[in-house]
Amino acid sequence: MSNELLHISEEDYQELIRPYTDAMNNVRMRLEILNKDYRKKNNNYPIHFIQTRIKKRSSLEKKLVKKELPVTVEAAADNIRDIAGIRVICYFEEDVYAVAECLRQQQDLIFIRERDYIQNPKDSGYESYHVIYGVPVYHVDGMEYFPVEIQIRTMSMDFWASLEHEIVYKYDGNIPENVIEELIECSNEIKELDD
Ligand code: GTP
Ligand code: MG
Repeated sequence: MSNELLHISEEDYQELIRPYTDAMNNVRMRLEILNKDYRKKNNNYPIHFIQTRIKKRSSLEKKLVKKELPVTVEAAADNIRDIAGIRVICYFEEDVYAVAECLRQQQDLIFIRERDYIQNPKDSGYESYHVIYGVPVYHVDGMEYFPVEIQIRTMSMDFWASLEHEIVYKYDGNIPENVIEELIECSNEIKELDD
């Protein structure tokens, strides 16, 4: 296959991500409102900070190739559910579930998928609560749902994930056995820190 075919044009990409950006900003706003309201009612902020990102064009193309899908905006829209991503960093583990529950109460969001890597950590040691919601976006010609992936974790879980991400990148995925073991050990220590 020629490289031409493994490519989404910049124009198509910009058009694709527009409603995902709207959906992502919509969820960010919901989370900011929840954080303030929670503080009013429970005297503390559950959320430390919120990060948002739209998947880069090159990452999107790479993911389609990896999934053996055609590198087109149609395939991306039909199969990739983390084009819009939000990371919510909480102070404590109980805050993670409090935030998740608040989102669950929002009836206009469509539940798509949940992965609780806090209850069931990955073999790598990764811990985080993931949920994907379909978010309504209204445009002049009607409403459509767009998926937004929300990752909710504590500050220490985020510290570990960022560190591990850098290490995976540094070793190009071939992490030495002793480093893998140290990362798992570090993940356990972080659990104690959170407790
Ligand atoms: P993707 O195809 O990568 O999106 O995986 P998935 O569909 O199986 O979803 P999953 O919920 O398992 O993971 C999605 C995201 O979680 C990734 O893009 C990362 O941001 C994060 N993640 C998952 N596993 C790890 C891990 O072992 N280490 C780190 N640092 N991040 C992880
Ligand atoms: Mg992803």
